[in-house]
Amino acid sequence: MIVDTLHWVGEDCSGHVSMIEQTLLPGEHRRIDVKTVPEMVEAIRRLAVRGAPAIGVAAAFGVLLGLEGLERRDADDAMGVVRETAATLARSRPTAVNLFWALDRMVARGEAERAGGGAAIMAGLYQEARTIHREDQEACSAMGDNGAALIEDGWTILTHCNAGALATAGMGTALAPIYRAVENGKRVSVYADETRPLLQGARLTSWELMQAGIDVTLITDNTAARVFSEGRIDAVIVGSDRIAGNGDVCNKIGTYGVAILAREHGVPFFVVAPRSTFDASLASGAEIPIEERAAEEVTCGFGQRTAPEGVQVYSPAFDVTPARLVTAIVTEAGVIAEPTSDSVGTHLGL
Ligand code: MRU
Repeated sequence: MIVDTLHWVGEDCSGHVSMIEQTLLPGEHRRIDVKTVPEMVEAIRRLAVRGAPAIGVAAAFGVLLGLEGLERRDADDAMGVVRETAATLARSRPTAVNLFWALDRMVARGEAERAGGGAAIMAGLYQEARTIHREDQEACSAMGDNGAALIEDGWTILTHCNAGALATAGMGTALAPIYRAVENGKRVSVYADETRPLLQGARLTSWELMQAGIDVTLITDNTAARVFSEGRIDAVIVGSDRIAGNGDVCNKIGTYGVAILAREHGVPFFVVAPRSTFDASLASGAEIPIEERAAEEVTCGFGQRTAPEGVQVYSPAFDVTPARLVTAIVTEAGVIAEPTSDSVGTHLGL
């Protein structure tokens, strides 16, 4: 494992979550224990744990943190608690659909265990959260295999934000094919966009790639056009927080600009994401709820004031890349080339 982003400590619902405190990276690599539902909501909100698949796993574990005493309740009462806990966790962040996917899965599992009352619901939810965690690791590995097949020996790849091990329970989404290609003996170099304003590319992607011994060069976001024009980039690989039914891809703010640059320069633009990141209920990316972050993250990021107090700020955390700019979406199940509503639907078995 490249890094252990988060895991459950314990053998039943009385345990807790151990996670890397990502806000401290790269200066400090410290783990924190998360033991209550409010603590988990806060950990997700302040980006101690972040990245769509990791948020999904965190939410599943978060449900377990709210189940104390559930074994003594009847099924109706117990499911009331489960639904309320899931609703609380759902209010943490709006964009990454993996969060809602995981919570829906937990509630459905609880419902399936109704006949056994509170104790059975509790046991079932513990199993389900463990399964969601394990399946994410397996999906990352499969995305690594499927994506590595697209990477040619000697390529230099540009990525945006952090869609690596730190964004998942496994080896990552966008970075998984890079790790796998290198394991397979291919020579691969990476340009990492710093990713304003919270610097996930600088703080997290460059850190985890260096930990793994991958050749990485950090660039400011506004250097991207320059490196494309200099012919330095062979492919772009990014992750996603939500993919609409027509293949429109929502990802960290700035991704759309990178996709336009890739098209202008004839460079393939790949998206790597598990099927849990698709939201086929949305016809297009225009329907995806986009989180807006606090002004202070732009005006006073990391405690350093860089803009006048009181200035108006607009800070959407994500943008949407239209499907027509996407060369292919890689999932754990295969590759969707030039995604459309039809090919996305077929891939998801809809
Ligand atoms: O705000 P963040 O850090 O949670 O944003 C994360 C991203 O945008 C990632 O690129 C996305 O979740 C894909 S992660 C595998």
